[in-house]
Amino acid sequence: MNRRQLLIGSTATAAFAGSMASPQASTRPLRLIPMTDLTGGINERINLSLNTASHDFGTSVASQTFGINHSYLGPVLRVKQGQTLPFNVTNNIGDVSTIHWHGLHIPGDVDGGPHQEIEDGAVWSPDVPVVQRASMNWFHSHMHGKTAQQTYNGLAGVLLVEDDSSLDADLPKTYGVDDFTLILQDKTFDATGRMTYALSAEVFEDGFQGDTIVVNGVIAPVAQSVPTGLVRLRILNACNARFLELSMQTGPVTVIASDGGFLSSPVEAESILMSPGERYEVLIDMGIVGTNALNVNWGEDAEGFFANLFGGNPTTTALVLNRSADQGFTGAIPTQLANLSPPNRSDATVTRSFELQMDVGADLAALAMAWDNFCGNANAMAINGQPMKMDRIDETVRKGDTEIWRISVDDMLHPFHIHGCSFRILSQSGATPPSYAQGWKDMVHVEEGWSEVLVRFDYDAPDAAPYMYHCHILEHEDCGMMGQFTVG
Ligand code: C2O
Ligand code: CU
Ligand code: CU
Repeated sequence: MNRRQLLIGSTATAAFAGSMASPQASTRPLRLIPMTDLTGGINERINLSLNTASHDFGTSVASQTFGINHSYLGPVLRVKQGQTLPFNVTNNIGDVSTIHWHGLHIPGDVDGGPHQEIEDGAVWSPDVPVVQRASMNWFHSHMHGKTAQQTYNGLAGVLLVEDDSSLDADLPKTYGVDDFTLILQDKTFDATGRMTYALSAEVFEDGFQGDTIVVNGVIAPVAQSVPTGLVRLRILNACNARFLELSMQTGPVTVIASDGGFLSSPVEAESILMSPGERYEVLIDMGIVGTNALNVNWGEDAEGFFANLFGGNPTTTALVLNRSADQGFTGAIPTQLANLSPPNRSDATVTRSFELQMDVGADLAALAMAWDNFCGNANAMAINGQPMKMDRIDETVRKGDTEIWRISVDDMLHPFHIHGCSFRILSQSGATPPSYAQGWKDMVHVEEGWSEVLVRFDYDAPDAAPYMYHCHILEHEDCGMMGQFTVG
């Protein structure tokens, strides 16, 4: 064991001791996140109200949370390509915040990054144009230094973009019947059943790793009754830091879409490894089996510890699907989904390199002591030797240029994200990405060697409203593993 694995082992032991005492988790009903369907037209401003709340995750005790129009997390917004979304985002959390539209191809001045602060009590009213293809996107706090704490407490939601072909597609699309949105997160609860979040040197290093999987704000496993036929799951990993390896109880996972839209055709995979910030859509054939389950492997970090505890099985069930007698969606898994040609690296005229750096010599234990539960825009991590600075532009990109961005790391696996675009992965940690990650993406895993993406930026991001690129382990981002770029 190296130093890092030792740290993880001791954190996991301490964190898990609490939940070991509780009896075998019972299965709760899946919470359907209320959906606001705007695909038929928008007649008024869309209100998103960031508020403090209390929410019961299933421990029978209310936790202090943040929510967006709800007690925890926000609504699922369903919109259509070509619309402009007139938001009124009202901040009532008692602290300054921002809301970033993760995955949207939009100009920097409505991107909702750290420069578009919303003071407590204020309203931010961006008009957000939706120009891109059908895709699953999300929104979350991007308040520099407080992104981890605010997102963990509940400032996140899902934004589904549809287009003419996705609305016409022969796919399940009845929300809450055969089409479900799942937000997966890991949380820690104290002995009284209240959600907790606290920083430590280990949390800065690994990011916050909770000991309990939560689906749509309810402790897993959750169960849902579904009609016979195809069922579609649109899945977001909204953990602060934890990679989740998803698999089905019976047979392979059929993946139809990634972060930025449909794959060219469905891909069958034994499992899919999802980093924080990633989205995948999968289809499950409930005509074949009466019960199926979506399982989550807690990922490589917890594996050693959980492997010992459960005899080599670090996997937990997130969602159980039980087939009812009803006839549901009768179509078959499509053979063709989108027109997507392979990325061509010779299209690129510019290459940029980024090294994500954890080991810059900061005293993480002292920082954690000073900050307790938010990170406070630190200099403890960096990219290319520079911790994030709000008043420094790191890269200047020419609009319309195709570029290769190459990313490497000095330690461990990190998820890298770029604002304002979707890209294609050329290589991931020095290898060909898995087939399910070969479509449109805005997240790439980086562990060893280079991860390379082919990207083009088509919208303006001026000095006053630059785009961000960063590690999506939120504690790393808050600690300075982020940079800024303009497009013009
Ligand atoms: Cu999901 Cu810059 O973030
Ligand atoms: Cu983003
Ligand atoms: Cu990181």
